[in-house]
Amino acid sequence: MRLAVIPGDGIGPEVIDQALRVLRAVRSDVETTDYDFGARRYHRTGELLTEDDLASIREHDAILLGAIGDPSVPSGVLERGFLLKMRFALDHHVNLRPSKLFAGVTSPLAGDPDIDFVVVREGTEGPYTGNGGAIRVGTPHEVATEVSLNTRFGVERVVRDAFARAQQRRKKLTLVHKTNVLTFAGSLWSRTVDEVATEFPDVSTDYCHVDAATIYLVTDPGRFDVIVTDNLFGDIITDIAAAVSGGIGLAASGNIDATGTNPSMFEPVHGSAPDIAGQGKADPTAAILSVALLLRQLGDEDAATRIEKVVADDLAGRTDAASGTTETGDRIVAAL
Ligand code: IPM
Ligand code: MN
Repeated sequence: MRLAVIPGDGIGPEVIDQALRVLRAVRSDVETTDYDFGARRYHRTGELLTEDDLASIREHDAILLGAIGDPSVPSGVLERGFLLKMRFALDHHVNLRPSKLFAGVTSPLAGDPDIDFVVVREGTEGPYTGNGGAIRVGTPHEVATEVSLNTRFGVERVVRDAFARAQQRRKKLTLVHKTNVLTFAGSLWSRTVDEVATEFPDVSTDYCHVDAATIYLVTDPGRFDVIVTDNLFGDIITDIAAAVSGGIGLAASGNIDATGTNPSMFEPVHGSAPDIAGQGKADPTAAILSVALLLRQLGDEDAATRIEKVVADDLAGRTDAASGTTETGDRIVAAL
């Protein structure tokens, strides 16, 4: 397995160290290339991600990313210049974000909610394309547009991917959008879901406006199996999804080119958390679960399931005293 590793900023390197130990515990064939993308390289060279970098990354089977982001870099620079550039350049159209409340993990929701769903967030279109502009900037008459781009091709491929995932799970797909207001894109998404549904007769479909979805995610998350949604709605609801299922420290994600043309990138949903960086406090669980998603994408279901099982058992028995970054890695590696 040729793996591109991007530890990144803040707690990124700490959690990636543990994730790699876990990967090596289940696979003996991992060859890594390290990349120093992030704030330090940006300050040193002014570069974020060059065409040469991308060509080199494309030589790998998959990418493991820690976190990119630092208060010393103005907001938006690393996001657009690195993370979104990677997702767009490598055609990561399926942004996969599972949410599962593991036994032993406390949800802020009352009772013992049943949470086990995946969000399939579109990753290369919507309002993330940088398609817009502004005029009369800085005047009282400033006008800004940010156009959401939705293509039949882009919507159809992510919808088909979501249906295929639902078919392997509890066979329920929910489209989350805002069709009552976003007339044109809403119509494209709804019609595409209806049409692709005919290829998956055993999967039932459902629709939910995004505002209502935020209610259900906290009042009745058990109703969801697979959610398919646009890039921005998916960004927002997956933060809620992470919060209700034990917090961002446990949330894993994949940025997937489902055609396999480009390497897919796996990363914890959390950021670089500069406030706790270097203290050995960060929870590496989300990075470790991202390794499981990576293995599954590369076809190693067996290793993916083993890691998930060991993490589930570890979470069930966790105490506060055992929550250091390395200690968590030690326990999981030992159990594997
Ligand atoms: C995420 C992040 C990114 C996004 C930002 C950092 C560009 O919030 O991965 O969810 O909006 O997709
Ligand atoms: Mn986000």
